[in-house]
Amino acid sequence: MNTVPSRVLSDGATIPAVGFGTYPLSGSDAESVVRDAIAAGHRLIDTAAGYGNEAEVGRAVATSGVPREEVFLMTKLRGRDQGYERTLAAFEESAARLGVDYVDIYLIHWPLPRLDAYADSWRAMIKLREEGRIRSIGVSNFTPVHLDRLSEETGVVPSVNQIELHPNFTQPGQRDADAARSIATMSWGPLGRGSGILADPVVTGLARAHGVTPAQAVLRWHVQLGAIPIAKSATPERQRANLDIFGFELTADEVAALSGLERGRLGGDPDTYEEF
Ligand SMILES: NC(=O)c1ccc[n+]([C@@H]2O[C@H](COP(=O)([O-])OP(=O)(O)OC[C@H]3O[C@@H](n4cnc5c(N)ncnc54)[C@H](OP(=O)(O)O)[C@@H]3O)[C@@H](O)[C@H]2O)c1
Repeated sequence: MNTVPSRVLSDGATIPAVGFGTYPLSGSDAESVVRDAIAAGHRLIDTAAGYGNEAEVGRAVATSGVPREEVFLMTKLRGRDQGYERTLAAFEESAARLGVDYVDIYLIHWPLPRLDAYADSWRAMIKLREEGRIRSIGVSNFTPVHLDRLSEETGVVPSVNQIELHPNFTQPGQRDADAARSIATMSWGPLGRGSGILADPVVTGLARAHGVTPAQAVLRWHVQLGAIPIAKSATPERQRANLDIFGFELTADEVAALSGLERGRLGGDPDTYEEF
């Protein structure tokens, strides 16, 4: 089994340097795929209330044969649950669906600035962390403006910002902003969500040169940028391969070549996207 290095977050928590995504897995498929992923060596598992698969993910962890404390479970607060009291209740609902008494990382899924409730949600998450129900608190799809509002109002900076990141959307400004605040950037859609990045001649050429797959080359690019990729795969062979990215290194020119594939975002704009 591959050995995956660890990352230490600004709050002192240690998490794997590569994670596993679970959207849009659902039903019994979600349970068996996540169990396969854990068997393949994945220990950082990303879900969300909005994915509708927390119960299946929780059952996969419970039946994986790996002790709970060795699996880092990450879930997210959905838009309709933002606000102080709703966040407290929504966390309990997520923990119950997952079948756990604590969650390793809890994220605000989207800032929803029009709702103007993310700072109140953040206060609730700080309380849940103080009570030991959450180990690390973070956000997803937050811009520097949203991040700074949280620290100005509460003095607590997120440990993680999970953002869209792949060679077609490289977010240098956001990554720098995260790093300047000691926030670990986590990459969603790290392989470009099936949009064709893995077939790009720059990617395939570079993969061939290193004797790895296009997906491994792209995931290695994330790690060398300092980000934590969380690719989803329903295939055990790919789940294993997506962890096996620590036996080679891209040159600075190769990293720059992948970053040169910029085309724009695939998902929503955090300033306007509404997820409920
Ligand atoms: N915070 C947010 O707002 C947000 C938004 C979107 C996603 N996410 C999270 O981020 C995770 C990852 O993003 P994503 O699932 O959208 O996109 P992704 O991981 O970039 O792409 C997933 C696609 O890549 C394929 N794939 C995986 N490994 C491969 C490999 N080694 N070789 C070739 N193809 C491979 C998968 O197919 P197979 O399954 O057939 O292998 C699947 O079609 C999600 O699952 C979710 O947990 C978060």
